[in-house]
Amino acid sequence: MEPILQVSHLSVSLPGKNGPAPILKDISFSLKQGEILGLVGESGSGKSMTAFAVNQLLPGGGKSITGGSVLFAGEELTGKTEKQMQTFRGKDIAMIFQEPMTCLNPVFTVKRQMTDVIMIHEKRSRKEAEIQAADMLKKVHIRDPERTLSCYPYELSGGMRQRVMIAIALSCSPRLLIADEPTTALDVTVQAQIIFLLQEACQESGTGIIFISHDLGVVSQLCSRIAVMYAGTMAETGPASEVLKAPGHPYTKALLAAVPRFTSGGVRDRLYAIPGMVPDPSEIQRGCLFAPRCPHAMDICRTEHPPIQNLGNQHQVSCFLEKGVSRGDGIS
Ligand SMILES: Nc1ncnc2c1ncn2[C@@H]1O[C@H](COP(=O)(O)OP(=O)(O)OP(=O)(O)O)[C@@H](O)[C@H]1O
Ligand SMILES: [Mg+2]
Repeated sequence: MEPILQVSHLSVSLPGKNGPAPILKDISFSLKQGEILGLVGESGSGKSMTAFAVNQLLPGGGKSITGGSVLFAGEELTGKTEKQMQTFRGKDIAMIFQEPMTCLNPVFTVKRQMTDVIMIHEKRSRKEAEIQAADMLKKVHIRDPERTLSCYPYELSGGMRQRVMIAIALSCSPRLLIADEPTTALDVTVQAQIIFLLQEACQESGTGIIFISHDLGVVSQLCSRIAVMYAGTMAETGPASEVLKAPGHPYTKALLAAVPRFTSGGVRDRLYAIPGMVPDPSEIQRGCLFAPRCPHAMDICRTEHPPIQNLGNQHQVSCFLEKGVSRGDGIS
């Protein structure tokens, strides 16, 4: 099956303190219909910028993309004008942001915001759009859709606002949904409900989902594939079960080791923190960007960009270490 999204060798530069700074470097990944891809990595690794690049919403516009391609259903999105992109956004490609208050308009009711989207993209009358909006709110398990429709965003709790955002995002049955940390600000029970909704959308409508998260626990429950980003590069991509059980990149191992765990006796393990910091994109960058923090860095890692290694089963790692060597390190 042809992927719904194919990102190849994508590079993005944005103005930095020393001139243009490389924010994304040679990023490649793909997403099939009905698949959920978890995009993970520390803060500043470029997850949101990847989402913005796919949607052509980068600060500075299309000229920020310095190379590579973004194919959506076989159609190249880089180079599209703002007007051309508007025919995709909201309809074929929907996005959910971490903080829904930044996306919901505070001066309009939920009804107005939902019906506007449906009327524009689905060419429905106001009456039809209102019925569809109420149906969508029921789908995201809002008990009293009529009351919620009449509310302004500030009258709703964080979890309700996030559900409204999801309802808006799903109201035009998008083929691609990008959810940028949609549950980070929510408590665990609401988080579980939102995850369930995304799974439902994926199974019922075949929507392909990019789920951006810090939380490897959530990603392991939800996603069939995982892409691990580090400092604007793609460190590892592969089936979730393999990446989580047999990570090939020392950075993925370190991220997994940093997940808080309980021992069999119910006692919390000592937390592991990855030493050092993600490099500033404005600084000159050479070799593997993880090398200064990597327990296995060799001389070559500090001077040359690591090649992509295929570990089979569409599992790829960008690292000089041999597969066998990289798995026998001290981080467990
Ligand atoms: N408007 C901007 N101009 C220049 N650089 C930016 C801009 N916004 C973000 N950056 C830089 O781009 C890099 C990637 O940022 P991005 O927001 O994609 O990270 P992230 O992985 O989403 O992090 P987080 O988990 O904190 O959301 C960071 O180094 C950040 O400082
Ligand atoms: Mg982000």
